[in-house]
Amino acid sequence: MSRSVLVTGGNRGIGLAIARAFAQAGDKVAYTYRSGEPPAELTDLGCLAVRCDITDSEQVEQAYKEVEERHGPVEVLVANAGITKDQLLMRMSEEDFTSVIDTNLTGTFRVVKRANKGMLRARKGRVVLISSVVGLAGQAGQANYSASKAALVGFARSLARELGSRSITFNVVAPGFVDTDMTRDLPEETRDDLLSKIPLGRYAAVEEIAGVVRFLSSDEASYITGAVIPVDGGLGMGH
Ligand SMILES: NC(=O)c1ccc[n+]([C@@H]2O[C@H](COP(=O)([O-])OP(=O)(O)OC[C@H]3O[C@@H](n4cnc5c(N)ncnc54)[C@H](OP(=O)(O)O)[C@@H]3O)[C@@H](O)[C@H]2O)c1
Repeated sequence: MSRSVLVTGGNRGIGLAIARAFAQAGDKVAYTYRSGEPPAELTDLGCLAVRCDITDSEQVEQAYKEVEERHGPVEVLVANAGITKDQLLMRMSEEDFTSVIDTNLTGTFRVVKRANKGMLRARKGRVVLISSVVGLAGQAGQANYSASKAALVGFARSLARELGSRSITFNVVAPGFVDTDMTRDLPEETRDDLLSKIPLGRYAAVEEIAGVVRFLSSDEASYITGAVIPVDGGLGMGH
């Protein structure tokens, strides 16, 4: 199986692990990066790096053109790029709120809409959106982030209904706390508090998220759509 796979935000963290996992399985992998240089590790695996800020529709269009020229239409899309701008509500500026929504939700809309062009023509496709346990459970200081991640569930489920007849699946992965730059920035006290609430007693490794994303994109998952799969060590049980 060598499909055209696109991962947004593939230059570090969870996105990098997802890009690596698909490439190691033999897929043609392209990934977007917004800043810095493409990681050598992915270049060595033959992955295509495409510079793209998902808050800019023109850059998204350009990125797709580049990927389509090199790898053909995208058959598997993993919408992973995301940001946090944590703040208690009373101190949260409108910009803190709208920029997180514009990246995590509207940015996902931009890349999913563009991918669907080719998937509709092919009458098949796999879309996996990276949400978060806090999208369903909530988290003090993350009203903007939590709202953006909860919205991805309604977005994916609506599209699952809209495009199921074309054999395009839309699923959501909801990681708990994963050891990446995003969580390394948290204060020590918060990290310890969160850890004490995770039944498995540890943070996830990026590979543990990547494995589930790959499964949802595989033949074995052909009858799964509109699902929200928690990968959170038990943190979100009941949500
Ligand atoms: N870490 C966790 O515990 C955790 C838990 C649940 C869900 N998640 C979700 O998993 C995803 C990946 O998280 P992570 O921990 O790997 O985060 P990370 O290490 O902070 O990486 C975020 C990635 O998103 C990219 N990105 C951000 N804004 C972008 C934009 N406007 N356009 C294009 N790319 C953009 C970043 O690019 P640059 O390098 O250019 O900034 C980077 O590649 C996110 O959606 C996050 O919300 C993470």
